Amino acid sequence: MSKSLFKNKTVLITAGPTREAIDPVRYISNHSSGKMGYAIAEVFLQQGANVVLVSGPVNLQLQHPNLKLIPVITAFEMYLASQLHFQKIDIAVFAAAVADYKPAVICDTKIKKAGDELYIKLVKNRDIAFEFGEVKQINQLSIGFALETNDEMKHAIEKLQHKNFDMVVLNSMNDAGATFEHETNKVTILKKGSSVHRFPVKHKAEVATDIVMEAGSIILQKQFCTVERTS
Ligand code: CTP
Repeated sequence: MSKSLFKNKTVLITAGPTREAIDPVRYISNHSSGKMGYAIAEVFLQQGANVVLVSGPVNLQLQHPNLKLIPVITAFEMYLASQLHFQKIDIAVFAAAVADYKPAVICDTKIKKAGDELYIKLVKNRDIAFEFGEVKQINQLSIGFALETNDEMKHAIEKLQHKNFDMVVLNSMNDAGATFEHETNKVTILKKGSSVHRFPVKHKAEVATDIVMEAGSIILQKQFCTVERTS
């Protein structure tokens, strides 16, 4: 991979889970460890990029002079922190497992046990990747993830189109050695208008390199098309 391809490029990465409070002691969240997003951040940093990492609560550390780490808790905080950077980034990687819904009301005091059933009304969170897709410029690249349990390719293609991604990294919960909390992952990469590339199970650091290389190939392709158009 040519290091100059990403030198001085600015990359926004969302990573980890979000937490949506129910009351002062409880929340809704998911099993995301953030490892994939942080591994991608490391590769971009090694390649000379500036990285803005908007991270949900994780047990990971990353330090680098070209890294701006923005810790957040909720999906709304993740949206606000990301949206501030939409205009000035070259590449966006949406690796976070954002909670799709949050409680309509956060109770000020602990909900006490009463009755046999408890209903919590949930309302939809903003879709950060979708909103970036709405304002994305021709020179900006958007990479999304799709974690699926069934009809994996169908759902991944729908996400590619609906969120205006240039590339989707598909994880299937049916693959051994993939997804949450593992040190390994197994991905299929789908690119807009073209290829599907299935990778074997690899360490997350290697998967991150594959993802960044695929992003690099799209940038090269775009540059080639621009040269073709102007010559
Ligand atoms: N995403 C996001 N903001 C959200 C929800 C999802 O930025 N509020 C991003 C994720 O980071 C990922 C992509 O959108 O890159 C797909 O997320 P996923 O949870 O797989 O899909 P959803 O659109 O939430 O749909 P569903 O949960 O129904 O599969």
